[in-house]
Amino acid sequence: MSLVMAHNRAARCLVLLLSAYTAAETIATPAQGQSSEDEAAYVAYGCYECHGYAGQGGNGPLIAPTQIPWEAFERIVRQPPDSMPAYPREQLNNETLQRIYRYVQSVPKPPEAADIPALRDRMTPLP
Ligand code: HEC
Repeated sequence: MSLVMAHNRAARCLVLLLSAYTAAETIATPAQGQSSEDEAAYVAYGCYECHGYAGQGGNGPLIAPTQIPWEAFERIVRQPPDSMPAYPREQLNNETLQRIYRYVQSVPKPPEAADIPALRDRMTPLP
C-alpha cells in the first residue's frame, strides 16, 4: 500500500470515528435548556427517590416543571411542611440547591392529552 493510500484510509477512519462520536453526543445531550450537571445534583441529593427522575411525583408530589419562586422553593427544602426530610445548608448548599431548582424548572411540560393521537382517539365520546 502506498503511503498516500494509507494516509487516506486513516483519514477516512478518523472521519467515521468522529461522526460516530458526534452522533453519540447528540443522543446524550439533554433537552434544550437542561444541563446534565443540574440533573446530576437532583439525583445525587435523592430528590428523585420521592419526586421521580423527572420530578413527576411518586411518594412526594409532582415538582417539575415548577412554578414555585426560588424563595419558596428554598423554604420548602430547608423546612418542609410535613413528611419530606429537611435539607439544611450544611448538607445541601445554596449553589447546589440552585442547580436542583434549575433542573426542575427545565423539565419540559408534558403534551396535552389532546395532542397525543393515541390518547386523543380514546377521548372521543362513545356514540
Ligand atoms: C423521602 C421523600 C422525599 C425526598 C427525598 C424529597 N422530598 Fe420533596 N417532598 C416530599 C413530600 C412528601 C412532600 C409534600 C410536603 C411534605 O410532606 O413535607 C414534598 C414536597 C416538596 C416540594 C413542594 C411541592 C409543592 O408543590 O408543594 C418541593 C419543591 C420539594 N419537595 C422539593 C424537593 C427537593 C428539591 C428534594 C431534594 C433535595 C426533595 N424534595 C426530596 C418528599 C420528599
